Amino acid sequence: MSRRVLLVGGGGREHAIAWKLSQSEQVSEIMSLPGNPGMADIGPIIEGIDPTDVGAVAAFAKAQGIDLAIIGPEAPLAAGLVDALTARGIRVFGPSRSAARLESSKTFAKQIMDRAGVPTAAWGSFVDQDVAKQFVRSQTAPYVIKADGLAAGKGVLVTEELSHADVWIDECLGGRFGEAQVVIEAFLDGPELSIFAVCDGTDAILLEPARDYKRLRNGDQGPNTGGMGAYSPVDGLPDGIMEFTLDRVVRPVLATMAALGTPYVGFLYVGYVLTAKGPSVLEFNCRLGDPETQVVLARMQTDLVDLIDAALDGRVNGVSLEWSEMAAVNVVLAADGYPDNPVKGTLLKRLSVPDDVTLFHAGTATNEDGGVIAAGGRVLNVVALGRSVDEARTLCYEAVDTIRWPGMQYRSDIARNK
Ligand code: GLY
Repeated sequence: MSRRVLLVGGGGREHAIAWKLSQSEQVSEIMSLPGNPGMADIGPIIEGIDPTDVGAVAAFAKAQGIDLAIIGPEAPLAAGLVDALTARGIRVFGPSRSAARLESSKTFAKQIMDRAGVPTAAWGSFVDQDVAKQFVRSQTAPYVIKADGLAAGKGVLVTEELSHADVWIDECLGGRFGEAQVVIEAFLDGPELSIFAVCDGTDAILLEPARDYKRLRNGDQGPNTGGMGAYSPVDGLPDGIMEFTLDRVVRPVLATMAALGTPYVGFLYVGYVLTAKGPSVLEFNCRLGDPETQVVLARMQTDLVDLIDAALDGRVNGVSLEWSEMAAVNVVLAADGYPDNPVKGTLLKRLSVPDDVTLFHAGTATNEDGGVIAAGGRVLNVVALGRSVDEARTLCYEAVDTIRWPGMQYRSDIARNK
């Protein structure tokens, strides 16, 4: 069957999803909304509709006779896009608005983790500034304070200083991120690991793990970002981590969500910290990770549409996934001023990479002359495959060296500092 797919989103993750979908014989057309200039090489990009305007997106999809919709980022999911498309009779992959609360409310996610018996840091949730500040004083540093709602990766403060914690609590509970609630939790020490589950409401299948680098600068220094690079496969993982993820985390969460009347269908991102006492869940996201998706899909050989169909039809249990033996490394090229104030409008030149390297666009746009310009914080993703992580890293950085613009920022230790 040849299908027309609507892919919602326009970052590096969505470019990688579109690239993967374009390899499926089941797909005749991929429309991206809003897409980006890189995705325009794959299919039409639909500008002028806000992805969180769920009524407008659903009306567009209906008018276009879309056969399958896939939602990349969290904001349209949290706004109820899956519910709106479903109401119009459109087949769509992603969690409902209620189920997406696993990402859109940190308090809800922690409640579900506790009910499902998922290992996670001790926590408290607060709406009152004085009570929150008192609770911080009962904890040991470093203090971890999270805005409850979506914050585009900017809602978490980790600090040793009580004075900084107090200011952050005032900002969060003063409405900086919309939701006037904070979660304060114990600090988890150890390397991070992302594992993505493809969920059908009752069961799930796991994709290969990837490791993300969240800090801006080499050696895990500098401010937190959405992610400055990733690699897969990841060596040296705890024994049984995949079974643990399915049996102790994902399946119990799916059972808990179903029991609440909000079955979870879609990608579920399990963000771990691998502590000395064992894996502990740092966060859930209701989507794939960015920039991890770019390396995971680069290695996945199974048709993504088959996998999504299996999840939508409630039969992930019978699926087995095929993976390339090759390793993948992704280095993010970010704009000057990222993450606080990325400089936009810079013309990006020399955007060609060798054949064995893939360039995924993220924060890009075209100017009046048709040139590609920086239009967001994380601008491009350079993804290379190699017979080992080291080989993929070497190829990736050789390609990175061919791309330069004023103020371009990137880490030079992705996949080196494992
Ligand atoms: N790379 C982190 C995230 O996607 O949330």
